[in-house]
Amino acid sequence: MGGRRPSGRAHQVPPTERQSVSDLTDLTALPADFTWGVATASYQIEGAVAEDGRSPSIWDTFSHTPGTIDNGDTGDVACDHYHRVPEDIGLMKRLGVGAYRFSLAWPRVVPGGDGPVNKAGLAFYDRLVDGLLEAGITPFATLYHWDLPQTLQDRGGWPARDTAEHFAAYASAVAERLGDRVKDWATLNEPLCSAWIGHLDGSMAPGVRDLTAAVRASFHLHLGHGLAVEAIRAASSDARIGIVNNLSPIEPATDSEADHAAAVRADGHTNRWWLDPIHGRGYPQDMLDLYGVELPERPGDLATIAAPLDWLGLNYYFRQIVQDDPAGTAPYARQIAVPDARHTHMGWEVHADGLEQLLIRLTDEYGARRVYVTENGSAFPDTVRPDGTIDDPERARYLDEHLAACARAVAKGAPLAGYFAWSLLDNFEWAYGYDKRFGLVHVDYATQLRTIKASGHHYADLIRSVRSSGGGEGT
Ligand code: FCB
Repeated sequence: MGGRRPSGRAHQVPPTERQSVSDLTDLTALPADFTWGVATASYQIEGAVAEDGRSPSIWDTFSHTPGTIDNGDTGDVACDHYHRVPEDIGLMKRLGVGAYRFSLAWPRVVPGGDGPVNKAGLAFYDRLVDGLLEAGITPFATLYHWDLPQTLQDRGGWPARDTAEHFAAYASAVAERLGDRVKDWATLNEPLCSAWIGHLDGSMAPGVRDLTAAVRASFHLHLGHGLAVEAIRAASSDARIGIVNNLSPIEPATDSEADHAAAVRADGHTNRWWLDPIHGRGYPQDMLDLYGVELPERPGDLATIAAPLDWLGLNYYFRQIVQDDPAGTAPYARQIAVPDARHTHMGWEVHADGLEQLLIRLTDEYGARRVYVTENGSAFPDTVRPDGTIDDPERARYLDEHLAACARAVAKGAPLAGYFAWSLLDNFEWAYGYDKRFGLVHVDYATQLRTIKASGHHYADLIRSVRSSGGGEGT
């Protein structure tokens, strides 16, 4: 648990009335320069896994391992975005977004993990960035969204310190090439997933189940983040740098002391472990005691990890209601389902208040000065109607509810600067393959036909309406 994707299967969600922006969503509190964006990630959309010198990543290996991904899906082709950049930028223009959060595939840029930069790989992102800027869309580049070069995994992966150093060298090469045009950088996407799901739960690449490896991985992810911040700043003095964490509000299932203690542990595992060190507070002592794993720390590392940042990225999908689980694994807290709640196709409860709570927590407890919701969105089983359109009222409603939560947080003082809907396109949803559709744009994987869903048109309307009412006139 603790950020693990609940493995719940499809929940039937009753069709809901589509409500208009004005009755459900009061966005007046959003700042005038609010950034409206969409997000994707390299392995989930690019395809072209063996082109122009790209080497395999841990996700190529993992997805080609039988039994790891629903339906045996892989990212080999995905949305074929590698060959469709102009079309996909055209879709962003039609949505009217001002910013695009994408990630770079490390094995395209540095196929050996360390060592020479692959010019052709970097040129792909160069073209993407130029295309975005021509379209008036601000690029937000994420350096690591889980696709570690397999060659580095073979040399120890994130549990090994060298990986952090190689990450900084890769970050430096990218920032040197793109830093004249890309100003907004995220180092890591959801290090919790890389460490806890990749190395403890094992349901994501590299598929390891070992607490010591997981704790070491988390430390070196943080170290790599801190070293990358230094490297980006050295290459591009006006860079604005952040890190993207997925966080969850945690609630005890009952009033029992045991469940309260479980909630504190789950909070440590899911939230504090990821926030405290980057804020210069070190790792939470209660969690160090609980894991009982010595950190592979050298003098100066904690200061590196706490490198000053320009913004925090928050990915929000669900809250966690937890029970004490002494027979489980760390943090010995089991997430329970909320029976009467609405759920998405992932089995994730829809709970927009949790987003407001987290934004307030980042502000009050961590003194955040600039925050972006770098991901938020929902999977629902879409149906393409005979006329080719896709009506997805649940996804539109989800957007409304979560944007309203953002506006409430802003009204209470949260320094929220933008929102990136996950995702531009339906894509390869990791262990769930192509079955789970998060896109504002539908992808027919047989033909690669893209169709903007009703929720995509709704997002476009909403952006237009906020802009025309005087708010949100930034990117
Ligand atoms: C997040 C990931 C993103 C996507 C969404 C649904 O945890 O960062 O790639 O899979 O979940």
